[in-house]
Amino acid sequence: MTTTTARDVDFYELTEEQALLRGTLQEFAQAEIAPRASKLDETGEFPWENIKKMRELELFGIPFPPEYGGSGLDTLSYAIAIEEISRACASTGITLAAHTSLGTWPIYRFGTEAQKKKYLPALCSGEKLAAFGLTEPEAGSDAGGTKTRAVKSGNQYAVNGRKIYITNGSVCGTAVFTAVTTAGAGIRGISSFIIEKGTPGFSAGTKERKLGHRASDTVELLFENVTLPAENLLGTEGEGFKQFMMTLDGGRISIGAMSIGIAQASLDAALKYARERRQFGKAIAEFQAIQLLLADMVTEVESARLLVYQTARYKDRGGNFTRHAAMAKLKASTIAMKCANLAIQIHGGAGYMADHPVERYFRDAKLMEIGEGTSQIQMLVIAREMLREAANRPGL
Ligand code: CAA
Repeated sequence: MTTTTARDVDFYELTEEQALLRGTLQEFAQAEIAPRASKLDETGEFPWENIKKMRELELFGIPFPPEYGGSGLDTLSYAIAIEEISRACASTGITLAAHTSLGTWPIYRFGTEAQKKKYLPALCSGEKLAAFGLTEPEAGSDAGGTKTRAVKSGNQYAVNGRKIYITNGSVCGTAVFTAVTTAGAGIRGISSFIIEKGTPGFSAGTKERKLGHRASDTVELLFENVTLPAENLLGTEGEGFKQFMMTLDGGRISIGAMSIGIAQASLDAALKYARERRQFGKAIAEFQAIQLLLADMVTEVESARLLVYQTARYKDRGGNFTRHAAMAKLKASTIAMKCANLAIQIHGGAGYMADHPVERYFRDAKLMEIGEGTSQIQMLVIAREMLREAANRPGL
């Protein structure tokens, strides 16, 4: 299944533009990106060749307006792009997602006109990649536990601290990050900043060795007596935590999209293998035991897709989509893990071997339940939002 069928377009109510993008990216990703995915996973080499091709297709600024060099497309188009790239290679998918919805979006959403004009064109063209520096050793699920400090003196800030597990950290040209500007003020003392590669004292530390997503760049970011001009502050002081929470709301739609990509790739591989593999004198797809697993997988993948696509549409309609983004991520990531697991099961012993891509899908799927907030954090967000909504509805 590598082409967008008329039924897909109809069922998911895609516009002509979205259907065209989906078809084009499916063909591109399957022809150009998928064949390299296994090798990149093995070597852990950053996918620069894919990045180059994706720049040519103008994939780095999909949801940003043309005046800043973007394509001006909607969130669903962006989600479709992440899904199709991740279906071919999750390491490349996460690179694009972290660049777009985490590293670039906050500049677009919270930046001044001067900041947008300065940074967005090179990010939208993909000439520079972007990163998002939130996580620290003591600020994981507790994102407000930031210890990195930015101390203002005159018209500049002195920044010291460390971020960990940062996607695109060593390959980025620009990063946004949080730091405490008012000590003792809790999350209201946290601000966000833009920093460029090459700023003295700003460097990438240890590159992580990972279970999956091995070709994506995950490093520490170090700030050692970095001097940043006050003009690099994003928005106003004390807004950093909320800005980054809002950024994660959007990012969680992309994790949902990546999850569908991995789940679909698992289904594609399982279906192909089940039709080819013969046991007891016939293709294993003819056995009900296998058919039940395939039926379960397709139902799960399509349900997750509906939730992710609808959340993307809801975001663009201006709704408060915090709960829906958390639900889309929670559901789609669980389904990605389940489908990758079932795909290995259908492959039997062969699925456990590195010769088949399903063991990579299994390793890549696991991050979807962790990155941009664990499944348990999504449940917490969902429950809090639901209770808040209930409190505002008399009679509930
Ligand atoms: N939008 C707007 N405002 C928000 C918000 C949102 N989504 N979420 C919280 N806020 C606001 C609240 O309204 C509140 O404001 P007031 O005080 O004015 O009422 C304030 O922020 C504090 O909110 P909480 O009390 O809910 O804050 P908390 O400390 O309890 O934390 C949390 C909430 C949901 C647990 C949050 O810390 C969280 O999301 N943690 C997970 C962090 C995470 O996802 N990290 C991923 C790192 S990035 C990554 O993984 C990328 C990668 O490379 C793959």
